[in-house]
Amino acid sequence: MTTNPREWAQEAVAQCVASVVRSRRAVRAFKQKPLERKLVEEILSDAATAPSGANVQPWRVYVVTGAAKEELAAALVAASRSGTAPAPAHFPEPLPEVFRARLQDFGARYYASLGIERSDAAARTRQSERNFSFFGAPVGLLISIDRRLKPHSWIDLGLFAQNLMISAKARGIDTCPQVSFAPFHDVIASHVGMSPEEVTAFGMSMGYGDSDAPVNQTAMPRERVQDFARMVGFPE
Ligand SMILES: Cc1cc2nc3c(=O)[nH]c(=O)nc-3n(C[C@H](O)[C@H](O)[C@H](O)COP(=O)(O)O)c2cc1C
Repeated sequence: MTTNPREWAQEAVAQCVASVVRSRRAVRAFKQKPLERKLVEEILSDAATAPSGANVQPWRVYVVTGAAKEELAAALVAASRSGTAPAPAHFPEPLPEVFRARLQDFGARYYASLGIERSDAAARTRQSERNFSFFGAPVGLLISIDRRLKPHSWIDLGLFAQNLMISAKARGIDTCPQVSFAPFHDVIASHVGMSPEEVTAFGMSMGYGDSDAPVNQTAMPRERVQDFARMVGFPE
């Protein structure tokens, strides 16, 4: 432990940031406590400090709450049940084995936390539909990008989203990023008034997480650093 005040302060900041980063989880059950508009705007302002290639800042965000959120959720459930939206294509088919194993592990942990049997397709569908009501969060976000941009600029959206989630977590607010919204771009665009150039990239639930809900108590495992990083050129 250092006695140098500057180093001590630096170490305290590092621990604080690490603790916020490590405590963020995808939260899927929320308290019925509203979120103030000012707070949402502060979080979005933090998020917008994210880096972007050539500083093009490609993100657009639509924030829904109250009746607007409920109406959008109802329209999305209806669209999902009608089967008219394109099938989700978030992953390639076949999915390489290493990723398939992790996806299956995620599914097993997720549905076990909800007490849903693997064979219970109806319960799984009901849970999937909860994506559209933002898992009961008071605020929903829809994040879009200009469809004329290349995949390169989608990297910027990820950085924006992580900034957003960490800023929220530092304020005691939980989030869940959700690609489930992407296949329903047309419904979302007409509800929130997107321009024809935009495409919905993902959505996000935001609110105060219910820490008693079993679904929020499952930590998803991560690979160890030595398994995904190779250190080159460092002394042994
Ligand atoms: C781009 C992206 C899309 C995601 N889409 C969904 C989604 O549609 N529905 C959902 O419940 N979780 C979704 N998640 C949350 C992941 O399942 C979650 O981040 C992952 O399992 C790791 O768990 P953790 O965030 O709690 O650490 C998404 C996460 C990311 C980054």
